[in-house]
Amino acid sequence: PVKLDIPAVGPGPAGSVIARQIYGQFAEHLGSGVYGGLWVGPDSPIPNVRGWRSDVVGALKALKVPVVRWPGGCFADEYHWRDGIGPQANRPPRVNTSWGGVIEPNTVGTHEFMDLAEQLGTEVYINANLGSGTVQEMAQWLEYLTAEGDTALARERRANGRGKPWKIQYWGIGNESWGCGGNMKPGYYAEQYRQWSTFAKAPRGNRPKLVASGGQELALDWVETLSAEIKGRMDAVTHHQYSLPTRDWKKKGAAVGFPEAEWISTLAVPQTIDGYLAKHREILDRNDPAKKVAIYFDEWGSWYDPEPGTDPGFLVQRNTLRDAMLAALHFHVFHRHADRVKMANIAQMVNVLQALIVTDKNRMVLTPTYHAFAMHLPFMDATSLPVQLAGVPDYTLGQYSIPALSASAARSVDGKLLLSLANTQPNQPLPLQLAVGGKGVRAVTGQLLTATTMDAENRFEAPDRVKPQPFKAEAKNGQLVLNLPAKSVLVLEVQP
Ligand code: AHR
Repeated sequence: PVKLDIPAVGPGPAGSVIARQIYGQFAEHLGSGVYGGLWVGPDSPIPNVRGWRSDVVGALKALKVPVVRWPGGCFADEYHWRDGIGPQANRPPRVNTSWGGVIEPNTVGTHEFMDLAEQLGTEVYINANLGSGTVQEMAQWLEYLTAEGDTALARERRANGRGKPWKIQYWGIGNESWGCGGNMKPGYYAEQYRQWSTFAKAPRGNRPKLVASGGQELALDWVETLSAEIKGRMDAVTHHQYSLPTRDWKKKGAAVGFPEAEWISTLAVPQTIDGYLAKHREILDRNDPAKKVAIYFDEWGSWYDPEPGTDPGFLVQRNTLRDAMLAALHFHVFHRHADRVKMANIAQMVNVLQALIVTDKNRMVLTPTYHAFAMHLPFMDATSLPVQLAGVPDYTLGQYSIPALSASAARSVDGKLLLSLANTQPNQPLPLQLAVGGKGVRAVTGQLLTATTMDAENRFEAPDRVKPQPFKAEAKNGQLVLNLPAKSVLVLEVQP
């Protein structure tokens, strides 16, 4: 069997704290990500609290959503916050030029989003519009949100129904500024950021962390330039990477009914991320040795060809066991880089790309990705622990080769020893011998997520096809050997 040991279990700091914000979410005005999926309006027959649907909010609350990024994405760089305040009937309809060219009614604006955040009990990460807005507009939005005194903007907020200021934890300045956010070069963005961040002001005690928009995929030039030029002005730099089975934006690969070659190619992406995050860290360690600048991986997840029959601008795709596995592999990478990666946001929360929840009118289904998040809840704010592996075979097909086993261990906030495992092979179970500090393990209990096919999914008619099952195993003759089923994710509490 493969041998897995968690060597550092004594008292004292073993690794970095896994910021719970790496289990963060992203909700953009895109397709039915907000309208329909989350927001139905207070007059809807679908049960809701002040317009936010109760079923979806309830399911998200169970995930203890740590942070939500809003309103985009590309949408953020064409969003003008004044369109979304005041009586809803008076708000101007606009064209959502990024996503499907549909009418953005602006029914959901600042007050509505902040209400959602309060219903969820989550932190907020607002992405301001650098691409097509003005510095003044951004500065006034932040003042409107946070002003305490008797200023015109605070009065306006109160007149719109909110007395006390909101807490704003994170403030993004632009999104994908190398692309939909303005097609800038890193040096130019750095100059812009220098100016914009000067005016991102808020009262003491309610100053959000300032987030600079960084690069994507293998690009290192953004993190290199930004960490050299504006490090004293930013708390974090972002990075984006999507997982496309074919790596081809024109034909990305199908969400279901895909060949094994696209199972492995998709699951190989987190390994690439692992490699370049190490390079990001080298750059940051050089330019920011005091570790003041974090990496926020604020868009990640699978991106497939759109579901046939849907508007391609709505980014609708199905979600299968492959997505749950992909999520687990991302978590392991983020845990490994927990000293720098302090936030990650899956794209996206509801109905868009690798969604956690899918809705259709009054129905809702929890995707395999949702279950992967739920299983990893104990890892929030846990302390990452190194794992020693021996005898892990490679899983190889065509041009791709990845380890058959991915593992991550941690000490939870309440002192439990946690282990997350993923067997990436679609057809081969993996026998595994567990040890803690070189000694045999007594027992494990946890939850197993697997299915009979690589593309097993939850549909409205069969919502529980892919769902975690209880798992337990005990030592025999002082050794605990467990059989990790093919294509499975297993999260365990380990009793040494
Ligand atoms: O998540 C969908 C889009 O992907 C976002 O709007 C954009 O930032 C990225 O290109």
